[in-house]
Amino acid sequence: MKASGTGPDMHLDQDRRSVLSWLLGGGIAASLGSFFYPVIRFMNPPHVSEVAVDEVSGGKLNDLKANSGKIVKFGNKPALLVRVSENEWKAFSAVCTHLNCTVQYQDSTRLIWCACHNGMYDLTGRVVSGPPPKPLEEFAVRVRGDEVIISRRA
Ligand code: FES
Repeated sequence: MKASGTGPDMHLDQDRRSVLSWLLGGGIAASLGSFFYPVIRFMNPPHVSEVAVDEVSGGKLNDLKANSGKIVKFGNKPALLVRVSENEWKAFSAVCTHLNCTVQYQDSTRLIWCACHNGMYDLTGRVVSGPPPKPLEEFAVRVRGDEVIISRRA
């Protein structure tokens, strides 16, 4: 009988162990990588530049009736377009200056309302009540043909 751990069998055992160790180590490394990669990506997201937009279409003239409003995309932020009367339009950033909720037009009060903490703005963008610390940014509105155009004020 041959003693274990000697001769060519010993080299074969060592080769098997090193292959198994290599496979086990690779599996552990792959598992750790698959766990930590999404965590690292979440903690360090890729830089996405803000879309610079100075002008957007607010839709067709007859899309909104007098004393109503709607939210439109202004770049990657919402804007509030209000048709105050037949010939008067207003537009504001729809991002509340308190904690960034989206505001909406309230036809019953003719005010801009933030549902998050009951903040109220008038149709110049000034704070009427509630916690918002600053007025809403106002945009310019003009009608071009049958289209309503919203743009940043110069
Ligand atoms: S987020 Fe608008 S009132 Fe608080």
